[in-house]
Amino acid sequence: MKVGGKAYRTIWLKADDERVVQVIDQQKLPHAFDILDLRSVDDMCRAIRDMTVRGAGLIGASAGFGMYLATLQASDANFDAFVAQAAAKLKATRPTASNLAWAVERMHRAIDCGATPADRRHLAKLEALAIADEDAAHCRRIGEHGVGLIADLAARKHGAPVNILTHCNAGWLAFVDVGSATAPIYAAHEAGIALHVWVDETRPRNQGASLTAWELAQHGVAHTLIADNAGGHLMQHGMVDLVITGADRVTRDGDVANKIGTYLKALAARDNGVPFYVALPSSTFDFGLRDGVANIPIEERDASEVRFVAGKTDSGAVAAVQICPDATPARNWGFDVTPARLVTQLLCERGLCDASEAGILSLFPEQR
Ligand code: MRU
Repeated sequence: MKVGGKAYRTIWLKADDERVVQVIDQQKLPHAFDILDLRSVDDMCRAIRDMTVRGAGLIGASAGFGMYLATLQASDANFDAFVAQAAAKLKATRPTASNLAWAVERMHRAIDCGATPADRRHLAKLEALAIADEDAAHCRRIGEHGVGLIADLAARKHGAPVNILTHCNAGWLAFVDVGSATAPIYAAHEAGIALHVWVDETRPRNQGASLTAWELAQHGVAHTLIADNAGGHLMQHGMVDLVITGADRVTRDGDVANKIGTYLKALAARDNGVPFYVALPSSTFDFGLRDGVANIPIEERDASEVRFVAGKTDSGAVAAVQICPDATPARNWGFDVTPARLVTQLLCERGLCDASEAGILSLFPEQR
């Protein structure tokens, strides 16, 4: 993706010092575009936990680079114990997205192939880079498989803009590049198909307002920010042709964990006959789980994210304001689970499939 005409990924190794990982500070967007240096596994854990980096794919890539940083920090004498401890710390940062544990385990397997600590550090670097490259490539392929959905709707609308609703940020910023839900949108935009995106603000942290709106604007895609509760009304009035969301974890049976509020959009879409697609790379599947409502761990975050809203004031300063009485208690679940029956299809790097075990295994037969 380009920012101010320059191509960026969301995470990379510093050009003149490969012992440093650089990331875009997503806590500062959309008001500032800052790059942060991360030098240790603890830096990386903090960045994941406080959502300097966030989104399923980017959390996975960050975990990969976090393991690489751990191999640089580990002494030869205590290498295995230090790396194992780093893996446990990384896995504990956020519970819902599958990509985190998936990346940590993949790094472990790669590191274990090295005969000496020096070999292991080298292999860790290569594997972290491979995870990042693969994430970007898979998102690009999601776009190639998904663009037809938008092209078909455009043909049916005789060139009138296709209205797509998305929730939270499953965009470039949630991955290493391109994004999952945004991949077909960017591909269609590049193909010259007229489209417009309804961007759910996505309380409590407003990743739709602060991140999706920002990246769509960088890319020149027409979009409108809406309050989270507006989607049902728009669908009732024929103003949404298609919903595409991302996912943080998808079970073997096709249940989808995604940002809190996704389930309500899926219910409204079903009631109004609007197709509801979920875009994800294979690293987001949890092939070991079936019933997502019962079994996917749902992160509960600090209540202050519900009680306060952050934004830019008239003076240009960024500040948080309290929106409820001083003593009001709040709860803050980060994700919900949309049952497979409400999902029209899943969109992955290998193509489209039904949100069911049979559908998923038709694309991923090696998981039988
Ligand atoms: O809490 P976040 O910002 O890490 O949540 C992730 C999300 O933005 C969404 O749930 C997204 O649709 C899935 S991430 C590709």
